[in-house]
Order: sequence, then C-alpha cells, then structure tokens
Amino acid sequence: METLQIHKTLYAHLECAKSGEVYNPDTIQTYSRHHQPLLARYHLKDTQTTPDDLRQRPLTMWRYREFLPIRSDRHIVSLGEGMTPLVPMPRLAERLGLADLTVKDEALNPTGSFKSRGLAMAVSKARELGVETCAIPTAGNAGGALAAYCARAGMQAIVYMPDATPDIFRKECQFFGARVHFVPGTIADCAARLKADWQDDWFDVSTLKEPFRLEGKKTMGYEIAEQGNWQLPDVIVYPTGGGTGLIGIWKAFQELLELGWIKGPLPRMVAVQTEGCDPIVAAFRQKATQARVHPDPAPTIANGLRVPNAFGDMLILKALYESQGTALTVSEKDMREGIGEVASKEGLLLAPEGAALWKATAALRAQGWLRPDERVMLINTGSMYKYMENV
Ligand SMILES: Cc1ncc(COP(=O)(O)O)c(C=O)c1O
Repeated sequence: METLQIHKTLYAHLECAKSGEVYNPDTIQTYSRHHQPLLARYHLKDTQTTPDDLRQRPLTMWRYREFLPIRSDRHIVSLGEGMTPLVPMPRLAERLGLADLTVKDEALNPTGSFKSRGLAMAVSKARELGVETCAIPTAGNAGGALAAYCARAGMQAIVYMPDATPDIFRKECQFFGARVHFVPGTIADCAARLKADWQDDWFDVSTLKEPFRLEGKKTMGYEIAEQGNWQLPDVIVYPTGGGTGLIGIWKAFQELLELGWIKGPLPRMVAVQTEGCDPIVAAFRQKATQARVHPDPAPTIANGLRVPNAFGDMLILKALYESQGTALTVSEKDMREGIGEVASKEGLLLAPEGAALWKATAALRAQGWLRPDERVMLINTGSMYKYMENV
C-alpha cells in the first residue's frame, strides 16, 4: 500500500464563516469573535493531484489527504473510517417512481455512525496541537466516537449525554475509558453542564465550536463525488441536528468545483428534522437566515435530531438556499414505520434518523418536489443496532 507520507496537506488558514477574518491555523482555536464557526481553507489552486491519483490510495477518508488539515501523518488517529458504501434501493425507487434511490451507509464506520469521521479529524488535530483531554456534549453517537478516538490516541474523553440516551451509548463510552455524565434534558442541557464543570485543561469539541469535525464530515462529499465517478446525484437528503454533515458535504462540493474535479449543477440539499424539534425547518419556511432556539424539543426515537439550537444554523440555511433545496419534518410514527419498510423491502436496517429520510423522500415525491427522472441519495448517518432500546 502506498504511504500517505508523500501527500502534503494544502491547509492554509482558518476563516470566520461570517466576516471572512483570518485566524491562525496552527494554534488551538474554537470559534470566531463573531460567535461563528471557523472554516478551514486550503491552497486548492496549488494542487498537483488529479482524481486518477486517488485510485491507489487507502480506502479511508484519509485518501483526500491534501484537503485535510493535519500537518504531519504521525498525528493521524484512524480506525479506518470513511469510504462507506453506496447501496441502491431499487424496490423503493420503483415504489416512488424515481430514477434512482441510493443510501450512503454511514453505519459501517468504525463506531457505527458518521461521527467517526468528524471525531477522527478533531482528535487528530487536537493531538497535533498538544491537547490531552477532550470534552463533548452529545446525543450519543458523537460521544462514542470521541471516546474511541481518544482511547486510540492515548487521550482522555469527557462525555455529557442526555439521560434519555440508549444505555448502549454510555456502555460504549465506558469501555473506551471515557468519563460519562448523564444529564436530564437535551444536548443543550449537556452543553450547559459541561460549561459549569469546565476545567482549564479541557478542549471543547462541541459541534462547530472547533473547526475540524467539519473537515472530517466533509469527506462524505468527496466520497459521494468520487464513488459516482465525479457525477453527483440530483438531490441529497440529510437528517439535520447540528448540521455538520450537511454543511460539510456542501463545503466539499465548493472545494471540488474550485479544483475543477466536478461541474455544476450541484445537488439540491434537503434537511430533515422531527415534528417535535424543527428549528431549521421553521426558519427555512420563514426564509430566515438564522434559526430560533426551539423552546421545548420533544423526545424522539431519533436521538441525534433532538438539537434545539444548531450553532451552525446560518451555514445550514445558506446551503439549503444556495442549492435550491428544502427542509421538512417527519413524525415519530412515520420514522417507526420507515425503519420496517426499508428493512423488509431492501434488507437495510437504517437508524431512525436514516429512516426519517426515506419518509421525507416519499413525501417530497408525493408533492412533486422530486421529479421521476431524479437521482436521490439518502445519508444513513447511524446504525439501528444502537437504537433497539428506543423501539
Ligand atoms: C445518527 C445521527 N444522525 C444525525 C445526527 C445529526 O447530525 P448533524 O449534527 O450532522 O446534523 C446525529 C447527531 O447526533 C446522529 O447521531
């Protein structure tokens, strides 16, 4: 196998998502003084790499080495994350009268969700910058991923999760040696507890409050393009909590356009939330550029979608508007039904968040928002095997 050593990162600087102000790329950073995420930027014009060069590389997200922010290969903390399969769902496509319906199955990542990507990147960069302890508020999957990658890196993980999270997530974290706290309420209450317990040697890896989980998540966009032979689907449907994956996929497409590896038009991006916690959908319906905090997020079987206030709300909404996408909710009843429908028709046991996408797609097709000739991709973000307690 070719080593990664010869591929140098083109990582240039960090930039405030709102003002464009530049931040030092090689010191510990959180978010900008405008209270906005920091985005990693690259010298994309300097690349010598071509899509053909990727062929010989390892089948992990690290194959996009030049476009990732880690300076030295020896700081990479990896369990083989990424390059998850694209699985067609022909029976369900036929049922909806769609040209193509495909799932990108993120359940096959090392910790059973797409969170492996973001936390592998955040922990790698934290290690590169000398951090020893990472703390996180989580709906479950991100905590498990942080705990695993910290264990692998010889670092300490501190995890705060809602007390309604399935027990498997707590056990998983404990096996990995993390310190776990159960907090009544939502991920927002977990964030408040983390703040109250704050220790000076902790590094906070909350969604978009450090710049690099996004860089891990963006590799989904690179893969969607590469696995489709640099042809993109017409529509991508994404279960939106904090929205890092949606923002990341959209960021990847902008970078690939700049590299000249893809051509437009880009896919229309669709954000799916639950009826009981829909701050992004509500903002989208009002054509707003910012979301309001959801005052009373209802419990749900899709733990990852119970996010009352997304720190990256402006970036999520921007991607939806720029892509001419949409946003919609699904009910708890629909999600439960959706899990069984996809499993019995296609042999795929999607997480509740993934099953929500199937129901949302059916609704968009019924409304005529999706045309029969369109190719639609659903991002199944997690594994149903972790959620059995919920159903
Ligand atoms: C399975 C699953 N899907 C979706 C989400 C929401 O992810 P994002 O923050 O990228 O919107 C989460 C977050 O916890 C999750 O665990």
